[in-house]
Amino acid sequence: MPGSLSLGFRSLSLLRGVLILAIGGEARAGFDGWIRLPVGSCHGACPQGVTGRWELRGYLNRVSRMQTDLAGKVVVVTGAARGIGAAAARAFSREGAWVVLVDRDAQAGRLLERSLAKAVFIETDLTSETACEQVVEKVVKQFKSLDVLVNNAGVNDSVSLEAGPAAFSESLKRNLLHVYNLTHFAREALVTAKGSIVNVSSKVAETGQGRTSGYAAAKGAIHALTREWAVALAPQGVRVNCVVPAECDTDQYQRWFASQPDPGAARAGVERLVPLGNRLTRPDEVADAMVFLASMRASHMTGQFLYVDGGYLHLDRGMTGEQRKWGGGADGLKPR
Ligand SMILES: NC(=O)c1ccc[n+]([C@@H]2O[C@H](COP(=O)([O-])OP(=O)(O)OC[C@H]3O[C@@H](n4cnc5c(N)ncnc54)[C@H](O)[C@@H]3O)[C@@H](O)[C@H]2O)c1
Repeated sequence: MPGSLSLGFRSLSLLRGVLILAIGGEARAGFDGWIRLPVGSCHGACPQGVTGRWELRGYLNRVSRMQTDLAGKVVVVTGAARGIGAAAARAFSREGAWVVLVDRDAQAGRLLERSLAKAVFIETDLTSETACEQVVEKVVKQFKSLDVLVNNAGVNDSVSLEAGPAAFSESLKRNLLHVYNLTHFAREALVTAKGSIVNVSSKVAETGQGRTSGYAAAKGAIHALTREWAVALAPQGVRVNCVVPAECDTDQYQRWFASQPDPGAARAGVERLVPLGNRLTRPDEVADAMVFLASMRASHMTGQFLYVDGGYLHLDRGMTGEQRKWGGGADGLKPR
């Protein structure tokens, strides 16, 4: 919608000290979450007599939703307690979906559950096959439906070529087997719902990293399975896509920075490698791509990869940042 549009507001409300603007019966608050209000009603939270037409310029773009069909849908997000998974949970919640948060971190998971309008937390470690089966059973029992599966849980665990077969197998358990297991157990519910799957891989699937064989194998397999399952499930109307982050500012990455001799310098070094803005990707930027792929806004997309990485993987770094091999401008992306 154009930013200079004038809209009629039905209600204006103060909730927990935060200004809420209600547009056509839905409102977004200053905290992270959507609040649904019947048109013209504030559930008692409205200051008396606050109604009327308000001119809205520019701000609209910041508050408007993508207009997805995800309201009321059941979305399972693995690794939802922190990082990209938590951002995904918030983003799907803003779309009005029920979000099932699956994570082994009970403290962070419960905290997030309480902060979202419609969320259920399941504490479990997905390295167990039984746990994966039970997650799907619980969801189907409680909601009678499973519309979207976000296979996000994973950890870059640095299991190298030297680490040996046992360590490699364990890494695949942490990063790959639960992706297959959950999708296997969820397939009937997804077919019934004509739902969709969003996998999360990594740039490492394509670039390698040198000391992380298990993670690289798992993420490479997730790329292959995205295509494989897109083919397998297309006849039943289930779409399967994948987001590919590179350098995203999450707990996992911060732990890595903290482990370096000079964390500040390590972070600056990584940031310099990201062509767009010389910064890490924010988790919510990856989450927005997930919401798009899971929704009917991507109704004819399947077997696809969205690289949410500030150009990290595909742009010529000779044209960006401090390196101006081909005569790029001081701001990186503008040629002289
Ligand atoms: N952060 C990055 O730069 C980056 C880059 C590329 C890919 N990724 C991928 O994005 C995904 C999310 O990464 P993140 O950076 O947000 O990680 P994170 O460590 O910040 O969060 C991961 C969450 O998953 C949970 N989790 C991990 N393994 C689990 C298991 N076996 N059972 C239950 N819960 C489990 C953790 O408890 C945690 O809450 C991962 O698959 C990761 O490989 C991240």
